[in-house]
Amino acid sequence: MSELEEDRRQIAAALQQPGVRPDPALKITRRIFVHKSLLLGAVTVADTFAWWPLINTIDVAYAAEQPFKFAWISDTHLYPKSLNTRFVDKTIRAVKEVQAMNPPADFLIFGGDLAQLGKIEELELGNEILKEIQIHKVFIPGEHDWYLDMGKRWGELFGQPNWTFDHKGVRFIGLDTVSRAPDYWSVKKMTPEERMGHMAVLDGTVAGPWAGVGRDQIDWLQKTLTDWDPNRPIVIFSHNPLYEYYPPWNFWVRDWREVNEVLRPFNKVTNIHGHVHQVLYNEIGSMRSFGMLATSWPWPYAPEGVPKLTKRMLRVDPGDPYDGVGWSKVDVTAQDQVGIDYVMWGRKEIYPQSPADSSESIPETLRPRIADREWPY
Ligand SMILES: [Fe+2]
Ligand SMILES: [Fe+2]
Repeated sequence: MSELEEDRRQIAAALQQPGVRPDPALKITRRIFVHKSLLLGAVTVADTFAWWPLINTIDVAYAAEQPFKFAWISDTHLYPKSLNTRFVDKTIRAVKEVQAMNPPADFLIFGGDLAQLGKIEELELGNEILKEIQIHKVFIPGEHDWYLDMGKRWGELFGQPNWTFDHKGVRFIGLDTVSRAPDYWSVKKMTPEERMGHMAVLDGTVAGPWAGVGRDQIDWLQKTLTDWDPNRPIVIFSHNPLYEYYPPWNFWVRDWREVNEVLRPFNKVTNIHGHVHQVLYNEIGSMRSFGMLATSWPWPYAPEGVPKLTKRMLRVDPGDPYDGVGWSKVDVTAQDQVGIDYVMWGRKEIYPQSPADSSESIPETLRPRIADREWPY
């Protein structure tokens, strides 16, 4: 057994003790229904039909004091209007739909990557568009918001990147998973634009493992939770997932084990994250984790590391900019359940209806390599 494999076995043994799972009442349902566009008013009939999203609900047992809902938007990746309005249009659409929720959501969480290249005009454009949402708004940063001016303008617009508040019996925590990148730019004398450029690509060859919570913030998290009953629900918002999915794309935080140590005593922890631009579900110890859609574009699933508990969303039509993207509603119901609804624009189904590719059931090592198939000798 390799050292890495041994490591992983030990981690799994520590985290997945017998009987340790998220709250046992957890169930994943697929209440699938098509509903009419949430946007009322100046919409053509054609638009209305095109906008019928599909809602997929994941019900999770909780014990909120009273039912409520909140909305999640993230990964709008705005360019200046003069360059590209496609992402602007999609952000406006999500904003209008959130604003039209009836009854209204209690608050909006914006999960990071508001801007594409961290420019002041991109951040300000996003701030302007989001102003249309009248409900309370909270923000966490994404790497695209941060690495041009190291979070200066973002902080001026949106305040502290990490925070906590209690709402109707649930403790909400916003984590900053982007600002603690190891400095790879100083020694290479990079300009802020060059630094930002390396953060703005999926492949982290130069930027390295930038996603992390940091010792100071982990200590803060621990302090934040000292007065919290382990049986009461906690919802943690982060830009990156709080587990190891695919490090080369920073689909993780590098200190996820330490974070999990802090969260381990709590029985009802939900992590809701952006950055991956895709439907994801995972369980680590007693924490469950949900990946959210972007409004801008969908990323493909990583070549490895997709959590086994994830039911993959469909492959999207690359010719349709509204496919595979959207926003999410989160309901806390009177039956003490939280439901996450993926609002994927223009789709009746978000999961493929056809059977999985038969090659997926063949172990990796037994599958012919693409090269062998293409160029047999
Ligand atoms: Fe993103
Ligand atoms: Fe991101």
